[in-house]
Amino acid sequence: MRVLGIETSCDETAVAVYDAAAGLLSHRLHSQVELHQAFGGVVPELASRDHVRRLLPLVKAVLEAASTTPRQIDGVAYTAGPGLIGALLVGSGFARSLALAWGVPSIPVHHLEGHLLAPLLEADPPRFPFLALLVSGGHTQLVDVAGFGSYRLLGESLDDAAGEAFDKTAKLLGLPYPGGARLSELASRGREGVHEFPRPMLDRPGLDFSFSGLKTAALLATRSVRTEQDRADLARGFELAVVQTLVEKSRRALRSTGHDQLVVAGGVAANRPLRAALVRMAAQEGARIHYPRLEFCTDNGAMIAIAGCHRLQAGLVDGDLGIRAHAHWPLTTRIEA
Ligand code: KG4
Ligand code: ZN
Repeated sequence: MRVLGIETSCDETAVAVYDAAAGLLSHRLHSQVELHQAFGGVVPELASRDHVRRLLPLVKAVLEAASTTPRQIDGVAYTAGPGLIGALLVGSGFARSLALAWGVPSIPVHHLEGHLLAPLLEADPPRFPFLALLVSGGHTQLVDVAGFGSYRLLGESLDDAAGEAFDKTAKLLGLPYPGGARLSELASRGREGVHEFPRPMLDRPGLDFSFSGLKTAALLATRSVRTEQDRADLARGFELAVVQTLVEKSRRALRSTGHDQLVVAGGVAANRPLRAALVRMAAQEGARIHYPRLEFCTDNGAMIAIAGCHRLQAGLVDGDLGIRAHAHWPLTTRIEA
């Protein structure tokens, strides 16, 4: 089984070819970051138009790199949501048309399922069941993954996602969009303990998160910023608060589920202090930790192709000619931990 995967839910146009037996054959990505930078955030209409421009050349490039002809493709997977509706419609319409023309099924994929399964692209993949911490620009969730397609939501952010909090605080510090990685770079020059931020929700039971208070605390703290060192100290304090919150909630979730593997996925999984702190925590808890490689932490086509391949093998393909695109689409129904 060989699947072409297409991701267009936000500001990356990404395409990949995944083969059930041989693994990932090729992947390409075009980031729109420069296009949106002047606006300080993603402009949905510009994103949609750029996906239209980029998709076909990217598909040609991945097929060529995978030495694959359309005849060897068994299905076309695409992100059907959640995400920006216009951007999703471009990917969905494109993927469905391609599948129709090639006479193969099209496969709708949930963007977060893609992130969850991204570590399966690595050499030493996690085995089901496992606990997943999903930390992206749009979501912060702890998910109990019993098997392929079997996801139980244990906790999530009640307001801002972790990546969103990073981006908003970065903006307050005058860093260009998307600021998560830049804030972290600035924080690496900051000193610990100069700025103390609250650890949201750690004093309460349960596995939910809240990051909007942290953002407000950051706003207040910026008023006393004078020097470059002040900025770095603030960034360090903020990052530490987010990291410790994510780590302690993950520890709780490992204990309450009894899982001995933790998968960390989504754009914020690229954060180095978070990775290091989670490794330490997992060692203390006797658990193994799995990350996708850095480039597959953020949005990519490979995760959609591998999720699509699993779906195709399970027969979960589009049954009619409708165009599927869901701006809001829960991965799971919520179950109280
Ligand atoms: O998963 P992703 O590529 O897109 C969404 O589906 O949201 O995640 C993007 C998010 C952004 O908020 C970005 O600032 C954040 O991941 N991010 C980071 C780092 N690299 C990316 N946040 C903190 N530290 C990083 N190194
Ligand atoms: Zn994502």
